[in-house]
Amino acid sequence: MSLPVSRRTFIGASGVAAATVVLPSISPAIILRGAIRPAAVSSSNGLPAVLRAMELVLEGTDTLDAAIEGVKIQELDPSDNSVGYGGLPNEDGVVQLDASCMHGPTRRAGAVAALEGIKTPSEVARLVLKYTDHVMLVGEGAKRFALSYGFKEEDLLTPESRQLWIRWRANRGADDDWLNVPENEPLPTRPTGTINLNVVNPKGEISSVTTTSGLAWKIPGRAGDSPIIGAGQYTDNDVGAAGSTGRGEANITACGGFLTVEGMRRGLKPTDACLETLKRVVQLTPPRLLQNGRPSFNISFYAVNKRGDLGSASIYPATFAAHDGRVGALRDTAYLYPRRA
Ligand code: GLY
Repeated sequence: MSLPVSRRTFIGASGVAAATVVLPSISPAIILRGAIRPAAVSSSNGLPAVLRAMELVLEGTDTLDAAIEGVKIQELDPSDNSVGYGGLPNEDGVVQLDASCMHGPTRRAGAVAALEGIKTPSEVARLVLKYTDHVMLVGEGAKRFALSYGFKEEDLLTPESRQLWIRWRANRGADDDWLNVPENEPLPTRPTGTINLNVVNPKGEISSVTTTSGLAWKIPGRAGDSPIIGAGQYTDNDVGAAGSTGRGEANITACGGFLTVEGMRRGLKPTDACLETLKRVVQLTPPRLLQNGRPSFNISFYAVNKRGDLGSASIYPATFAAHDGRVGALRDTAYLYPRRA
């Protein structure tokens, strides 16, 4: 990913008396022993994404560009109703998308929230990262920003997503004015799908991206964890990257992406760092969301370190997509509890 030179950077670099900047030291990064292996780790809907991203990084594509090409497969796939085009809408029947990304080598971040009408919010998040001095744009401003770069505004609601929304609206309450239709079909559960993808290349450069349509039937304007840097995803190029899918509210309060990377900084393996973060999530869960002491929701974390070790864990068993540089496949996550209470 090539970045434009900012006017501020240019003026600073050519200034008369450039002061010496001493950066505060942070605790040590991963100590590298042996070769770095390229790796990619993603949510279970991310198998095509890890395959594509790995293909690209092995050809020399930048890790963020490779990660975004990977998740775009799901964003553009109308049959994935948790991401991009075909994502399930908010309670008004409007699809609002969230995405964020981080580029390890340049330590930059970009995000969009509640973006309407644009199929690939991950690309818009990258534009925020690349061409602005901001980190997050939301709603109408995010859309106008995307349109200024030539994105086309499109209806993101597929006929299938509209049907699911109509059924939810019809059956949501006994006291509203909608008649229950159809009467005999079970309502779908409330999906919280998303795609997170974290990539490291053979040079140890790392990037991460998360993109989603968020919680189905959400209150309009709700932003989940996916666009929150440090929650939905986080990269520290000295350590690794991590991200999440599942109940966003539970992740935001734990700063789970950041916490998982910090776990790896302290020396935890990626899977163990994910499990530590999940314990924090459980600890922070309010009583109304506990059943016999266990959360009534699932959430997964995915992590990769600078050496190319990867892992994933969830509260309850799930699967994730992994590519170790040689082969990409679905694997089982580690978990806190074998089943819901
Ligand atoms: N993790 C996706 C969301 O809660 O919006």
